Amino acid sequence: MTTGNRPSFGVERGGALAGKVAVITGANRGIGAAIAGALAEEGCRLALAARNTELLDKVAGQLRQDFDADILTVPTDISDEGQARALIEKTESHFGGVDILVNNAGMGIYGAVDELDLDDLRHVFEVNFFGAVAALQAAVQVMRRQGGGTVVNISSIVGKFPQPLGGGYSATKFALQGASGAARSELKRDNIDLVVVCPGLTETEFSQNSRISVPGAEHRQGERHSLTRGVEASKVGRRTVTAIKRGEREVYITLFDRLLVWFAVLFPGVLQWLLTYVTRYRRRRFEQGEAGED
Ligand SMILES: NC(=O)c1ccc[n+]([C@@H]2O[C@H](COP(=O)([O-])OP(=O)(O)OC[C@H]3O[C@@H](n4cnc5c(N)ncnc54)[C@H](OP(=O)(O)O)[C@@H]3O)[C@@H](O)[C@H]2O)c1
Repeated sequence: MTTGNRPSFGVERGGALAGKVAVITGANRGIGAAIAGALAEEGCRLALAARNTELLDKVAGQLRQDFDADILTVPTDISDEGQARALIEKTESHFGGVDILVNNAGMGIYGAVDELDLDDLRHVFEVNFFGAVAALQAAVQVMRRQGGGTVVNISSIVGKFPQPLGGGYSATKFALQGASGAARSELKRDNIDLVVVCPGLTETEFSQNSRISVPGAEHRQGERHSLTRGVEASKVGRRTVTAIKRGEREVYITLFDRLLVWFAVLFPGVLQWLLTYVTRYRRRRFEQGEAGED
């Protein structure tokens, strides 16, 4: 049974996404805006959420112009459980359903675990983990009534292996991975797919928007580091859409990211040694650079 060009439920494997209703959190810049663009190109109707409404309206305006997209903007602080649930309710009452939820809103936190400010860490958990779970819970209720849907959780390769001075952020993504793995099994009988996307370094303002919880971790912010260059956010957007269509379980953006995660699983001690050395080296270079600027 179909309603207009919209099938009665969820996302059919390999099927077209035209007319589907997708909610994207953190949609006003970076990876979220790129995913919104890729879904708009497919003909999805979109509910875009984030806190900065000016940026949100700008992205919505651009997608309306480029793709004639039907868009609802919902100013949302995802760390507030009530707002996370209201986002799904508003989307359902506006569009009549929710086929796809992309839990993308996120932020980083830098600092050694033994020194992290716990209020900072709690806040990052509220955004990266509890916000995503609250939105999932609300969306699943709608998807169950419809007969299916797809939830996408944007994790990270560091949700697979922790990096020095990134332990707090990694912990939020490990938590998201854990909950996603269980939810994937639990939701199968409801015809709800759960896709986890694990980007590596991506060219966005992510590190500038991350919290420096501890003096001495500043070199992690704004660095254009890594053993590889970051990918364009549009690549993550396109890959995410393909994963939704295929109902994939877990997705990496580059072969390098995939190999790094395999290496981390097979040789955790070697990776830990390597990352310790690289972190010390970067910190030294950062400090020398700072001294040189004086
Ligand atoms: N960039 C990378 O290298 C990379 C790698 C792996 C994974 N990721 C993940 O990809 C996702 C997107 O990150 P990005 O790189 O695109 O970073 P970004 O450019 O900083 O974008 C973050 C997005 O999250 C939103 N956001 C932050 N706090 C929020 C809150 N409390 N409520 C609602 N929205 C909030 C921001 O909008 P407002 O500030 O206006 O609310 C913004 O739209 C994150 O989950 C991140 O962990 C990024």
